[in-house]
Amino acid sequence: MEQGKLALVTGASRGIGSGVAERLAAEGYRVIRVARQAGSGPDDLAVDLTAPGAPAVIAERLSRIGQPLDLLIHNAGQQGAVDLDAPPERAVWAQEMALNLAAPVALTMALLPVMRRPGGVIAFTTSLVALYAKPSAPVYSASKAGLAAFARAARHQLEGRGLQVVEIVPPLVATAMTEGRRGTMHVDAAARQICAGLARGDRVIAPGKARAVRRLHRVLPGAVERILART
Ligand SMILES: NC(=O)c1ccc[n+]([C@@H]2O[C@H](COP(=O)([O-])OP(=O)(O)OC[C@H]3O[C@@H](n4cnc5c(N)ncnc54)[C@H](OP(=O)(O)O)[C@@H]3O)[C@@H](O)[C@H]2O)c1
Repeated sequence: MEQGKLALVTGASRGIGSGVAERLAAEGYRVIRVARQAGSGPDDLAVDLTAPGAPAVIAERLSRIGQPLDLLIHNAGQQGAVDLDAPPERAVWAQEMALNLAAPVALTMALLPVMRRPGGVIAFTTSLVALYAKPSAPVYSASKAGLAAFARAARHQLEGRGLQVVEIVPPLVATAMTEGRRGTMHVDAAARQICAGLARGDRVIAPGKARAVRRLHRVLPGAVERILART
């Protein structure tokens, strides 16, 4: 029997990651779902991605499956408000940096040996704040800008080596992270557009309003930063 494609989605217990994992499963992928509060299915993996041993645990699970990984989606992330004049404890903002930036870097390095080549895809979920700075979330802005730069550099290295590197740039999506915010996109709509972009082989997937914001930023970067800084 022909083996289905294998995907791994981090932060798949809720929000965008859960929506994308569900859709990929409906498309026929076998999906490994990683989160701290993972479900109880055979392909749910309860891991704190900021723990030093996390990449090894995930790599070990994949090697037990014994099939190359077709699609790795780095999606887990967190965002906290940080008032620089009344900063949180270092552990609080360091955790955000660790999850948003160090964890996907470490997991990419650990899983490269099990990626399918040629044909494997590594997707990084960044944010529009990688383009402009969000005043209330300086640590989140820095982590996502760093992740976007890592993704671009990884693309230069890996695309000649049989892998495709994708950047996913969600707009404002209705999840726990954006509770109470207006003008959000439904998770299912965002997941549908993300999976459609992956199927088309897009290198940058910017669902909904994110596409227009990226275009505007290209011609009027200062204006976009000023407008979005007020939101
Ligand atoms: N929502 C938006 O408007 C928006 C916009 C731009 C970019 N993004 C990005 O899109 C991604 C998903 O966001 P979302 O809104 O769907 O967030 P969310 O609903 O808060 O979900 C975050 C996911 O990450 C997991 N997670 C958090 N800490 C973890 C840890 N230490 N180890 C393992 N998993 C962890 C959570 O599961 P557990 O708590 O069970 O671990 C959850 O599954 C993030 O990278 C975010 O920055 C979101």
